[in-house]
Amino acid sequence: MSARVSPSNDATVLVFGPYNGDGVTELERRFTVRKLRERDLAELPEGERASIRAVAVAGHIPNAAIDALPNLEVIGHFGVGYDGVDAAHAASRGVAVTNTPDVLTDEVADTTLGLLLMTVRELGQAEAYARAGRWQAEGPYPLTRFSLRGKTVGIMGLGRIGLAIAKRLEAFGLAIAYHNRSRRSDVSYAYHDTLEGLAKAVDILVVAAPGGASTDKAVNAGILRALGPDGIFINIGRGSTVDEPALIDALRDGTIARAGLDVFADEPRIPADLLALPNVVVLPHVASASRDTRRAMGNLVADNLSAWFAGEPLPTPVPESEAAGLSRAKVS
Ligand code: DGY
Repeated sequence: MSARVSPSNDATVLVFGPYNGDGVTELERRFTVRKLRERDLAELPEGERASIRAVAVAGHIPNAAIDALPNLEVIGHFGVGYDGVDAAHAASRGVAVTNTPDVLTDEVADTTLGLLLMTVRELGQAEAYARAGRWQAEGPYPLTRFSLRGKTVGIMGLGRIGLAIAKRLEAFGLAIAYHNRSRRSDVSYAYHDTLEGLAKAVDILVVAAPGGASTDKAVNAGILRALGPDGIFINIGRGSTVDEPALIDALRDGTIARAGLDVFADEPRIPADLLALPNVVVLPHVASASRDTRRAMGNLVADNLSAWFAGEPLPTPVPESEAAGLSRAKVS
């Protein structure tokens, strides 16, 4: 398994900043790879830029970097959410973009349920209590204010990941409602055509929607008010989908009861005001972060780049690239 896959893959791939280790290994197995330590093209001497035909990136690549690579053909984004890549801009320059759907769906859904349970049943605090010897010294951990029993969960974004979360919630015996741009014909969960309507109707609001302009700060002070003083907010999608200062205010003044967050507006920074609150559970964006799942994501990035250089259809082009006719390389 150490030889290059095919001589037709004789292309230089630029790894644009921090990237999964197994993913780099897989790219190196198939391609000539040039790595940048930071997301900064200044690290790549001008004279080397023309050799780059593909980029692999986990997170953000600025349009200026796309524009500065004259022979760039394809960007493989490590992650399903590709809000860090301006795919429309890339398409306007004839550059295809791919992402990594499906291979992480179940992992992210599993983590969502874990975060939900941590937030509702205080599992992190209870564990800290046991570790500190307080069970023996002070008696049982206090009964939790909240339970999942009898609750209705609203999902914002019933795509692949939202559906996988819903399936798990069904198995937990919970009622499910959702808000999407449009109603799905393949589920019988209650549909709300506004996010506010969904927030009003449920006990727990879970964001599983993509980031980007269409969802920017969609969860604002009004939505949090609609969720109400016993409401619980879970975000596994993107930090940009929430007005973070409004969320901090809502948690502080009891507008909502609790939040469980895997994503933040300015990762890896978590606002000190948020960390100071006792009614929030924070995770460091780990929803898909198991070695197996991240390896599968890295392999899918590499598979996309291999397909591109073999002139085959891309396994997972993003919709903007498909719409621009960039779902396979044009062989001249
Ligand atoms: C994704 O793939 O978008 C996830 O946020 C990465 O964990």
